[in-house]
Amino acid sequence: MRKKILFVGSEAAPFAATGGLGDVLGSLPPAIAEAAQDGADVRVVLPLYGSVSDAFRAEMREECVMRIPLAWRSLYCGVKSLYRDGVKWYFIDNEDYFKRDRLYGCFDDGERFAFFCTAAMEILPRLNIFPDYLHANDWQSALTVIYAKRRYGHLPGYAAMKTVFTIHNIEYQGVYDPAILGDIFALSPDDALTVMHNGAINLMKGAIECCDLLTTVSPRYAEEIKGPDFAHGLDEVIRRNAHKLSGILNGIDYLSYDPKADPALPVRYSFRSPEKKAKNKEAFFREMGWEDGEDKPLFAMITRLASHKGVDLVSAIADRLMERDLRFAILGTGEGGYEAFFRELEQRRRDKVRSLILFDRALSRRLYAASDFFIMPSKSEPCGLSQMIASRYGSIPITRETGGLADSISPFREDGGKLAGNGFTFRDYRGEALLDRVDAALRLYADREKNLRYRTRVMRIDFSWNQSAKKYLKLYGI
Ligand code: GLC
Repeated sequence: MRKKILFVGSEAAPFAATGGLGDVLGSLPPAIAEAAQDGADVRVVLPLYGSVSDAFRAEMREECVMRIPLAWRSLYCGVKSLYRDGVKWYFIDNEDYFKRDRLYGCFDDGERFAFFCTAAMEILPRLNIFPDYLHANDWQSALTVIYAKRRYGHLPGYAAMKTVFTIHNIEYQGVYDPAILGDIFALSPDDALTVMHNGAINLMKGAIECCDLLTTVSPRYAEEIKGPDFAHGLDEVIRRNAHKLSGILNGIDYLSYDPKADPALPVRYSFRSPEKKAKNKEAFFREMGWEDGEDKPLFAMITRLASHKGVDLVSAIADRLMERDLRFAILGTGEGGYEAFFRELEQRRRDKVRSLILFDRALSRRLYAASDFFIMPSKSEPCGLSQMIASRYGSIPITRETGGLADSISPFREDGGKLAGNGFTFRDYRGEALLDRVDAALRLYADREKNLRYRTRVMRIDFSWNQSAKKYLKLYGI
């Protein structure tokens, strides 16, 4: 029997995406459809943000228009859909909620996603699309899992539906004042025990309690969040629900992140043509206004400038990094203090540093392609995708051993003449530990033959969805 899987989430590339969640929800559903062949019917429900392009809108068909009840409100809801990559994508339209200049960070996010989740539940009978598994992701769609259990569970169609909840990052939990339990979230005082945590409504906690299966995006992170250092206050809740929990490592979209076919690159290449990768480096140096030094190793970071990404480690060793014979480019936006720090570093060391304080996807691809090493020293990292993209583009990862970084990158070693591992890694969250691995990378770079051999190995590691999609199929019993 063909199993029906319905994903619910707040973003998916290429429609609307701000980060890793969007990358995963854009590429995992098609990967599951492909891996299952005819064994699965895969669909996704997303908000129709104002930023979804006209080209996609032109492809959409009108599914229905309905009213959605949310506590005392009755709200307009249009449902549109399109078919792409073996998956049917549904878009929930309500311009009051979703025609904004950003995806999140609005004063009424709680209400916007309560509406979205209610709509996701209400369209099931209307479009006759009850799935075997409803698969929600992070706090913005957590309410669907709570509603499935607490509000709709007794109704025909909903009763047989199982739920999966995936934690992409436990740091963002959807925490709200208990005063809006009924008015905004349409939950009753009986539900309080399920959704309350430390005196507040906590949507992620509610979904963890209510889901049938709980997953996160790497096996290591699944272990880490059982303890207080990583769980942001939810460790006890995770431990209590650990029998439902498993970790499945993300993959990356191998069609999109392919240096052989990436239209953003000046010169396309593969592990068979390292000299063409070098051309990308030359072009990048020119773009950055560096007149010489193409023979120097280029270290890159592409990251949100947030402390849990380990940016503070890099700022702590910045001066000592500058003593080394290298080039360093950092791309990303984030906390004001870090933005200022790296701007100032560039001003002082224009000979060695470029601080690109912006969000630019094409530029990020040029930097993956140009760089020799990719620094990702996260304090915590549920999975991380950049280290996988960097690998495919031949930029050797230098990572801290946490979460998905630990599951995807292991240290280089030569076992009886045979090369193993795929990067430089360190354990202690200390600047010196990172610097030590940078020095190891510099030594590798100085040995041309070895450098090429190691880099080729890194580029050939399989970070596609192949393996992981099979694990999801098993989870759904396909
Ligand atoms: C979040 C996590 C990141 C993960 C991504 C996709 O952005 O912080 O580690 O790769 O979700 O699951």
